[in-house]
Amino acid sequence: MKTLNAKSLALAAIGAAALITGCEVPPPEVVQNGYRGLQMQTIYNAEDLRESLEANVPPEPIPAAVPGGPKAKDVYKNVQVLGELTIAEFNRLMVALTNWVAGDAGCYYCHVNEGFEYDGIYTKVVSRRMIQMTQDANANWKDHVADTGVTCYTCHRGQPVPEYVWVTDPGPRQPSGLAPTGQNTAAKSVAYTSLPYDPFTPFLMQDNDISVIGQTVLPQGNRKSIKQAEWTYGLMMHMSEALGVNCTYCHNSRSFYSWDQSAPQRTTAWYAIRHVREMNNEYVMPLSEIIPASRKGPLGDVYKIYCTTCHQGAYKPLYGAPMLKDYPSLAQPLPEGGLEAIRAAKEAEAAPVEAVEEAEVVEEAEAVEEAEAVEEAVPEQAKAEAVEAAAPTPAEEQPVQEAAAEPAAAPAEAEAEVSPQPEPAAEQPAPGPQLRYPPPSMMQYPPAPLQYPPAPAPR
Ligand code: HEC
Ligand code: HEC
Ligand code: HEC
Ligand code: HEC
Repeated sequence: MKTLNAKSLALAAIGAAALITGCEVPPPEVVQNGYRGLQMQTIYNAEDLRESLEANVPPEPIPAAVPGGPKAKDVYKNVQVLGELTIAEFNRLMVALTNWVAGDAGCYYCHVNEGFEYDGIYTKVVSRRMIQMTQDANANWKDHVADTGVTCYTCHRGQPVPEYVWVTDPGPRQPSGLAPTGQNTAAKSVAYTSLPYDPFTPFLMQDNDISVIGQTVLPQGNRKSIKQAEWTYGLMMHMSEALGVNCTYCHNSRSFYSWDQSAPQRTTAWYAIRHVREMNNEYVMPLSEIIPASRKGPLGDVYKIYCTTCHQGAYKPLYGAPMLKDYPSLAQPLPEGGLEAIRAAKEAEAAPVEAVEEAEVVEEAEAVEEAEAVEEAVPEQAKAEAVEAAAPTPAEEQPVQEAAAEPAAAPAEAEAEVSPQPEPAAEQPAPGPQLRYPPPSMMQYPPAPLQYPPAPAPR
């Protein structure tokens, strides 16, 4: 008995020692990302970071396609999205899709014996929509993905189903008569806290209000509650973990609410939340109908996108490797004329700008000359007027101010752009199976309008 005790004690001691050293070696790296003294720091474990860097390396790009040649739409039979590409560009992209998404299955993961044009396999139909989703992300969500952009690889990493996806979580079984609260169970989705285990349905699919800090002291007009705050914290835990950062990467913790004390990354994250919502609602959910049951969650809803799907522990997916520049066909929906037309439009865009700049220089020079001429000839008062006229008027100065204020106005605009009123029935895809979500009572939200961040204050 005694020996056993001693043994277990010794084992426990070794275990504890291992745990403690496990926590402390190697020493964490602290990276400061706010002003000194604010403790806006992100703490990295050097070992984990090295592993993450090694795991997030994009594949080598495929050599560029030879320019010229006939268009895919003139040669192939059923190209609805990529028709404007040349045959060489089209085939290059098919090879890329195969590497990024098809695992070991090759072309026949999305094609069948009936012919390449045949649409009878769901993976091909899903892929067509995914191509559109990727083009939309890269063209219309630059406030989030910048020019780094995304390709299929950002999410899929060589696999048919991305490794990190979410479905609505039914939660643990509850005795009948107990209303589910959606929390008080340690869940991986929120880093094993007992915060609500499915913060994704209310925020990354529905657009419930994330803001929880009340603007008034008294309960009248202030319906914010701790319970409500826990949903927001659940989402924030996910976002921090997905990006491999601390809360202070985005917030100054003396005021989680204040936008003008937050890091610019918080504004990016604001767009990101809206972007992910759009991808889930416009692209992934409507595919429910054709996605097989084996690719669905316990409540029958399809696998959906959250921050980890792309970021996978990195503050920028693949640590910011700019894969998209090698695959211009995924950078935007293809206009008539394809990549040639896009290149031509870019060149045309660049040209008039130069012309305008020149014109402005000439104008300025003329104004100065005028002012100088006036100076020579006229008495004091008229001179002052002329100088005023030559100086930039407030109207001319305005663009600069507007540019500075843009982050404030832009989210509102973006919101208006991305959530148009539902189109008339003709445009709607056929309704998919009725999905089930947690009852609204689980989420204690008064329906609230979304709030937009004001411009970050100049630093
Ligand atoms: C991840 C899915 C996927 C993989 C893998 C894939 N394709 Fe495709 N393929 C598509 C989609 C989607 C279309 C339709 C594009 C459109 O509508 O613009 C298509 C269309 C085609 C067409 C045009 C057929 C026609 O007449 O309309 C050809 C040819 C083709 N693919 C060849 C290939 C080859 C060769 C490979 C293997 C190197 C391959 N594909 C791998 C998704 C895939
Ligand atoms: C933002 C992340 C994201 C990007 C980018 C993305 N996908 Fe997906 N894809 C998903 C998710 C999530 C699913 C799972 C949907 C489901 O099965 O419920 C999926 C599923 C698929 C499937 C079905 C797989 C299966 O076996 O059921 C195919 C095929 C596919 N994607 C092709 C593509 C192609 C091709 C591209 C690039 C043009 C692409 N995806 C880009 C997130 C993404
Ligand atoms: C990647 C950036 C990012 C990280 C990391 C982050 N947040 Fe946030 N947080 C945001 C954004 C963006 C909003 C506003 C969302 C909205 O209103 O749509 C927000 C909102 C909040 C709010 C609500 C503020 C209000 O107006 O009522 C709280 C509280 C909060 N975060 C706490 C946290 C905590 C705690 C952490 C760490 C666990 C954290 N955040 C990590 C970006 C971030
Ligand atoms: C479709 C893939 C994708 C998804 C999903 C995604 N992101 Fe991103 N995100 C990107 C890309 C690509 C960049 C890099 C942009 C750049 O280079 O500036 C990025 C950059 C960011 C940045 C800026 C980081 C920095 O240091 O400048 C933040 C913050 C961010 N994302 C937050 C989020 C949050 C929060 C979510 C989930 C709500 C999310 N992202 C989901 C693709 C994605």
